[in-house]
Amino acid sequence: MERLRKFRRAGTKMPFMLLALLVLAGCRQDMHDQPRFKPLAMSDFYADLRSSRAPVEGTVARGQLHEDTYFYTGKVGANPGDYMPFPVTEEVLQRGRERFDIYCTPCHSRLGDGNGMIVQRGFQHPPSYHTDRLRKAPLGYFFMVMTEGFGAMPDYAEQIQPRDRWCIVAYIRALQLSQSATQAEIGGHAVPSPAPQFKEPGSGATLPVPAPQSSETDTGEEQK
Ligand code: HEC
Repeated sequence: MERLRKFRRAGTKMPFMLLALLVLAGCRQDMHDQPRFKPLAMSDFYADLRSSRAPVEGTVARGQLHEDTYFYTGKVGANPGDYMPFPVTEEVLQRGRERFDIYCTPCHSRLGDGNGMIVQRGFQHPPSYHTDRLRKAPLGYFFMVMTEGFGAMPDYAEQIQPRDRWCIVAYIRALQLSQSATQAEIGGHAVPSPAPQFKEPGSGATLPVPAPQSSETDTGEEQK
């Protein structure tokens, strides 16, 4: 009996619910046909007849506020700066070496002497990194060359992210030191002579390889 009464009560609500459904269905059309402009549609609301507005002057897109100018240009004012915008760790050098081997060696060779494979096939010979001029060039200069290009060399701003360009800068400096370090700079350790050479197949470049490590030849103090 109780149940039947409940059922009847529900029955009386039915018409109201149907009515509500019909009314709400009317709203649906409004959602389909919203009062907005399609991109680049014409509008006579503004004097220039364009519905799209130009961004307010000075607007910066999200993620593009390059506040740290040095990080993105390598320049201090108009000139190249001579410091790294972040500390050089082993990870930075490894990354720099990897990116350098991918993007720069085709022309500059792994050694940086400018005798890469493309050059051997006729492309203009870049200067060696191991000249006095480039050994003394400030760090920001290498960043600028990659970012803006240099003479016959295209820029690599699109292909290499700014942080990776800095990693390459650090690696080039290490590469330069590796070819010009003095006895004093390597802490008095003996340089094996003649230094063992590794010839890269197909290229004229020779790379010095580290001397084989064995307890007999090791002169390091750690041993004692
Ligand atoms: C397609 C070949 C090519 C590639 C790849 C290339 N370079 Fe070069 N690079 C050149 C040439 C050619 C020059 C000399 C341009 C000139 O003097 O007109 C040069 C010059 C340079 C110089 C010396 C600028 C100077 O003051 O003389 C630097 C530094 C340099 N490149 C760095 C790089 C780095 C770093 C990369 C990798 C991101 C790279 N290059 C990739 C061809 C290349």
